[in-house]
Amino acid sequence: MDRYAVVGHPVAHSQSPAIHARFAELTGQALTYERLELPLDGFLTGIEAARAAGLRGGNVTVPFKLEAFAWAQHRSARAELAQACNTFWFEADGVHGDNTDGIGLVRDITRHAGVALRGARVLLVGAGGAGAGVLGPLLSEGPAELVLSNRTVARAQDVVDHHAGWARRHDVRLVASGLMDVAGAFDVVINATAASLQGAEPPLPTSAIGPGTLVVDMMYGPKAEPFAAWARSHGATVRDGLGMLVEQAAEAFFVWRGVMPPAAQVLAERRALLAT
Ligand code: ATR
Repeated sequence: MDRYAVVGHPVAHSQSPAIHARFAELTGQALTYERLELPLDGFLTGIEAARAAGLRGGNVTVPFKLEAFAWAQHRSARAELAQACNTFWFEADGVHGDNTDGIGLVRDITRHAGVALRGARVLLVGAGGAGAGVLGPLLSEGPAELVLSNRTVARAQDVVDHHAGWARRHDVRLVASGLMDVAGAFDVVINATAASLQGAEPPLPTSAIGPGTLVVDMMYGPKAEPFAAWARSHGATVRDGLGMLVEQAAEAFFVWRGVMPPAAQVLAERRALLAT
């Protein structure tokens, strides 16, 4: 059995082991997927010990995505854009790193929500690790405009600068903004901030959303509910981060195994479980 793991701190509540076990079952792949919680200052030591013990690859979650990026010797273009890795595997030539978060979010929006990003006006709220991690694949879809807003505008500007060439290549108007400085309504709004974890006010003006807006919160579960309720009360269609979670896992599974698992089926199963 090939061994994979989700590496993070904490990882006790990660859904990844259940998702990948189900993918393996449905595709007939012989693999196991475990949790590997490493000390906050022990990523390198811990991951190299797991490698020596036969781990084939895995996912990286908070707070190790930047360290995983620095550790990987061969990095995908989307990992380079994100400056972070959520997926790794070992080959004879060393450690390979990738980032499937952005494509996971894009697939949730385009396939599961059925909303086109091409030509759309998109607001990405949050220029931390979560926001920066998904910007490249969002730009690849060719929206007309993408506004990256953040409490700390300089941080948004840094991320915009890092993606400027990629945005030009895909003909996207990419701009940085303060949270409340965004103007007009958007087709798609993505909340990638930690604001709801702190019970803070919705990190965008009401004018940004309306009946034609799809709002996606990267979080899911009770913490995401107040923001979802606020967006719904202004007419928006709201999605939580469960679809992105399952889709980023599906892409990682594909990268490792060359087999695309049935993400829609597993998402429906996880959704039913969350509801109970
Ligand atoms: P993550 O990996 O979750 O993105 P992070 O890199 O610490 O974690 O970034 C947290 C994000 O949430 C940032 O965009 C942060 O804004 P700043 O860059 O200005 O710190 C945002 N954030 C956190 N608390 C917030 C709040 N109360 N209101 C608005 N934005 C908040």
